[in-house]
Amino acid sequence: MPKQVYIETYGCQMNMADSEVVGGILSKEGYEITHDISRANILLVNTCAIRDNAEQRIYGRLGYFHAQKKKNPDLVVGILGCMAERLRMKLVEEERLVDLVVGPDEYRRLPLLVEEAFAGEKGIAVRLSRVENYEDIVPLRTDGITAWVSVMRGCDKFCTFCVVPFTRGRERSRSLDSVVQEVADLAYRGFKEVTLLGQNVNSYRDGENDFADLMRRVAEVDRTNRVRFTTSHPQDMSDKLIETIASNKNICKYIHLPIQSGSDRILKLMNRTYNVEHYLQLVDKIRNAIPGVSLTTDIISGFPTETEEDHQMTVKLMEEVRYDGAYTFKYSPRENTKAWYMDDDVSEEEKGERVSAITALQHQISLELNQRLIGTVEQILVEGESKKSAGDFTGRSDTNKTVIVPRNDERPGEYVNARIHSANSATLFGTREHTNEIRRVVVEEDVA
Ligand code: SAH
Ligand code: SF4
Ligand code: F3S
Repeated sequence: MPKQVYIETYGCQMNMADSEVVGGILSKEGYEITHDISRANILLVNTCAIRDNAEQRIYGRLGYFHAQKKKNPDLVVGILGCMAERLRMKLVEEERLVDLVVGPDEYRRLPLLVEEAFAGEKGIAVRLSRVENYEDIVPLRTDGITAWVSVMRGCDKFCTFCVVPFTRGRERSRSLDSVVQEVADLAYRGFKEVTLLGQNVNSYRDGENDFADLMRRVAEVDRTNRVRFTTSHPQDMSDKLIETIASNKNICKYIHLPIQSGSDRILKLMNRTYNVEHYLQLVDKIRNAIPGVSLTTDIISGFPTETEEDHQMTVKLMEEVRYDGAYTFKYSPRENTKAWYMDDDVSEEEKGERVSAITALQHQISLELNQRLIGTVEQILVEGESKKSAGDFTGRSDTNKTVIVPRNDERPGEYVNARIHSANSATLFGTREHTNEIRRVVVEEDVA
């Protein structure tokens, strides 16, 4: 019987996509991926190092896996991903928690390392690469409606708070052809939506082709399928990309555009390379070019030296932009980053208060924006049964909002027009609408 591998994934969508790459690599060598931890011979945790609390959670899980191994000494336990890259030897030597430590650019070596681990050897592979992009690996995906496609890896931006350039190494892109081919295969398999991924996805480049070119080519693969992307740095949000989103009906009108702070002084300390004025101009440009676009952001509270005034500037910016959603974080110092050497001088309590204030404000704004949609029709791609009520389907609008509609005879993967009758800050609720009021994604004249 083939050896069974259980993979647990933390962190961002890039990590989710990487776990599928790992699945692809191991299954090609005869391993089987299982979702049942009790059947596994190999436990792999694909980890995140972005904030200390992310790591603490994973330490908890490693403790549990370690206990499993005590009961069953034949079990191989491995840690993958960003925390593996960050902590390296520490996990094998000092803490003796795991058999394998494998960083994001070394997954090709997994079959060998796993084999050696079964022979009792501890393995560590944490070299970062300037070229590895796994473009020839077919990720192991369960058939479904939506898929992630990693198009570039690494990050060269070096925001002073961020560990990613250290855990993922330098930026490198896959070839445009390999991405288009993968998207075509996914369409053939019945996937209806792809999300192109990278920590800085809009700095993608393959020779003459930039991210806008890639998006256009991917959108052309099948006009009845949706295309999304994440996550975009404001600096690389080119006019050409905005125009490409605006002019391709099946590129979703949704942009995650992290600002991090509303204070120019803090943005400078963060090395974010734009100021509030630039950012607001960019938002205006996007909203003028793409009517109805939804925007979300990331915000860090309590970066070193952040004062109450800086915090109020962030509040003001949020009131000005009125994002559809925001992910808010308390600043967490990460070893070796530039900010690590700054004094972490905002107290936990203040960080907490600022994050709560921002979260409450965003909640209110999201609620107001969503309630304004009551009475309108949203085209949604049905993804499956609603978790809360089996009688309902859940799907997402073009603008990436979750919409619940009563279940009918259609299947997941089909588009439904929903007339919104109620909304909270996170979800819209609709009834099915048979109408031509909004156009289907498939429109002949869209094809450029
Ligand atoms: N590449 C993406 C960000 C990826 S990390 C981008 O630049 O948009 C996701 C978010 O985590 C960041 O946008 C930031 O808000 C947050 N984050 C990163 N490092 C952090 C830290 N040290 N403390 C708190 N939040 C952090
Ligand atoms: Fe981190 Fe900045 Fe790179 Fe995003 S752009 S991954 S925040 S260094
Ligand atoms: Fe975390 Fe690494 Fe992603 S640190 S956010 S898993 S790139």
